Amino acid sequence: REKRTPVIAGNWKMNSGSPAEASALLGGLLEACPKAPACEVVVCPPATALALAADTLRGSAIALGAQNCHFAPSGAYTGEVSAAMLTGVGCTHVIIGHSERRQYFGETNETAGKRLAAAVAGGLCGILCVGESLEQREAGQEIETCAAQLAGGLAEIPAEALAHVMIAYEPVWAIGTGRTATAQEANRVCGEIRRLLAERYGTEAADRVRILYGGSMNEKNAAELLAQPEIDGGLIGGASLKPESFAAIIRACE
Ligand code: G3P
Repeated sequence: REKRTPVIAGNWKMNSGSPAEASALLGGLLEACPKAPACEVVVCPPATALALAADTLRGSAIALGAQNCHFAPSGAYTGEVSAAMLTGVGCTHVIIGHSERRQYFGETNETAGKRLAAAVAGGLCGILCVGESLEQREAGQEIETCAAQLAGGLAEIPAEALAHVMIAYEPVWAIGTGRTATAQEANRVCGEIRRLLAERYGTEAADRVRILYGGSMNEKNAAELLAQPEIDGGLIGGASLKPESFAAIIRACE
């Protein structure tokens, strides 16, 4: 994986979104995390904490991301936020198509594709989430599920924009369950994702894409997962809310 700089991204989900909680967590992260990490580091707070986080993280090695982005620049989309609003508040990254948005909020492969296209066009780096449910895993459909999610998610991403996209493989059955995929299995699926990217964009471009693993990654299993050749980092949920855990995962990239 010498070709790709690893990325550790923290997805806070709907947690620590008040100014007081966000300040406390950000302070803890700045204190615990390496000042010159061997990987790229991103944290993705709730939208209510983005402006505060941008101020607090300015000048640090931690970049700011959001957890969703709409495909329109503005308008009658109650509850949504546009790419321009995210860059305007200091975001450089955004998570797109997270399984929880697919599960609870009607996100589809098509809408994820529109959101990713708008995010990249708006100057953000999009982290496109793919991954199979437990029933799809038990039916041996994990690769075809990821293939359909990639086809929809990348539908409006031309080769020249691929540098602004990362993929996060998050098997739904591993998210928040403590049931992490084995390093070998996560590596296999990430390798299949890279093969699918190569089919669409060519091997050279696919080899440059960072593919993250997400799903109960923590300070105990990070080193083994990150040592895998096809795994270029992690999208971290629960452990990103614990500064010492998140810092340990970052150090596991060294
Ligand atoms: O987006 C990352 C998230 O889905 C993984 O959650 O809590 O299993 O690390 P967690």
